[in-house]
Amino acid sequence: MSKSLNLFLPAIGGTALVLGGAYGFMARDYGAKTIESLETRVEQSTASAASATEAARAAEAEIARLAAERDEFQAIAAAGGGLTQPAPVAEAVYGLGREALPEEIAAWDVDVLPDGRGLPVGSGDVWTGEELFVDQCAACHGDFAEGSGNWPVLAGGFGTLADEDPVKTVGSYWPYLSTSWDYINRSMPFGAAGTLSADETYAIVAYILYSNDMVDDDFVLSNETFFEIEMPNADGFVIDDRAETEYSIWRAEPCMTGCKDSVEITMHASVVDVTPEEEGMEEEAMHSEEPAAEDATGDAEVVEASVDPALIDAGKGVFRQCQSCHEVGEGASDRTGPQLNGLLGRTIGSIDGFRYSNSFKDAAEAGETWTTEALEAFLTDPRGAMSGTKMAYRGLSDPADITAVLAYIESIGAE
Ligand code: HEC
Ligand code: HEC
Repeated sequence: MSKSLNLFLPAIGGTALVLGGAYGFMARDYGAKTIESLETRVEQSTASAASATEAARAAEAEIARLAAERDEFQAIAAAGGGLTQPAPVAEAVYGLGREALPEEIAAWDVDVLPDGRGLPVGSGDVWTGEELFVDQCAACHGDFAEGSGNWPVLAGGFGTLADEDPVKTVGSYWPYLSTSWDYINRSMPFGAAGTLSADETYAIVAYILYSNDMVDDDFVLSNETFFEIEMPNADGFVIDDRAETEYSIWRAEPCMTGCKDSVEITMHASVVDVTPEEEGMEEEAMHSEEPAAEDATGDAEVVEASVDPALIDAGKGVFRQCQSCHEVGEGASDRTGPQLNGLLGRTIGSIDGFRYSNSFKDAAEAGETWTTEALEAFLTDPRGAMSGTKMAYRGLSDPADITAVLAYIESIGAE
């Protein structure tokens, strides 16, 4: 029993994943979960059957019932598409709310579908439509629906859909006339949505068709003439059939082991910026107090192993521009500029005894620290980033130089 269930579960996952439409996933979940919970319950029932004869009888009945239910699901799954059907209505009653009245449903159910469902009885002619349009729509869409300023164009644009800058209008693009009726009736005029009567909407849509050269000026649009209209781009849309045509291509079992003969390192993370800022300070203290601490050694190794030596080398070259004023590494001391050990995560302007400019003192007081971002900004444009800085240096214009010099400073100034 449980064997067949096990065979069955992956089949469900597969089927639903592949066929999944909007609610395919829900349905898949529903199916898989239901079966999972059914299986659990079958097992529980089996267990209790073994422990007491009386309970066993009841449990057997339950097993039979659940198994039947399971078979039903199995049949649905075997039918393939069955799992993309909406989940069955829940049997439970939650005792919340009340049933919606037909009037309430009608008030919400106002959409008009391509096949004409929802279209109210009514009619309107092109000339009435023109008056209404000039009154209520032209300010934004132009007198002839040609658009005004940046407001949407509703007419013309034929033959432009394949252009780089297609003009998508009701005439050139929209596949269904029902969409125009529904959209305008529900959402236009912009700012006064829902104020158009059915007849007014028919008249306005008739005028838009006229503006698109799709009907003559004596045309009357009504719920009856509605289907005489052929939308020029009706065939311009295709049904999304990727579920049938493409998904199976992606369905191959993914490779999980030994997928490549050789592994080649093509890139290294350039800036190792994995330590949360505040902790950076503590770690620095820890390093100096207990240099032999296992954690610290381990960390240092990780950092060294993951930084590209070529990058550090490049950074050493860039640092020549800094070394007349800065020292970094073991025994580094302040010169024209402060020593740069433990820079990343260090509080700005915090080297004891160095006479910083006021902007650095302010930053220190505010407890600001050197993050990679802050360093990048400062080194790109020292005076722009820290106005009034004493660092008489124009900055590095190439971001790659900054990445390199920071990697270098980090590599030798970390201890
Ligand atoms: C105050 C300006 C304004 C007025 C007045 C106005 N509209 Fe619009 N209309 C818009 C804007 C803005 C949009 C785009 C809305 C969006 O994309 O969410 C739009 C979109 C539309 C569209 C869809 C265009 C497309 O290709 O997506 C139609 C059709 C339309 N309006 C018709 C009308 C009609 C008919 C009237 C008069 C009853 C009207 N509008 C009045 C501003 C206006
Ligand atoms: C002409 C000397 C000079 C040069 C060249 C120079 N700096 Fe500076 N640097 C300073 C001075 C002075 C300060 C202190 C700024 C202040 O107090 O306003 C400083 C501050 C710094 C700080 C802030 C340190 C802290 O403790 O807050 C960093 C980081 C820095 N420099 C990095 C660099 C790098 C990297 C280079 C080379 C690309 C460089 N500097 C080039 C003089 C220089």
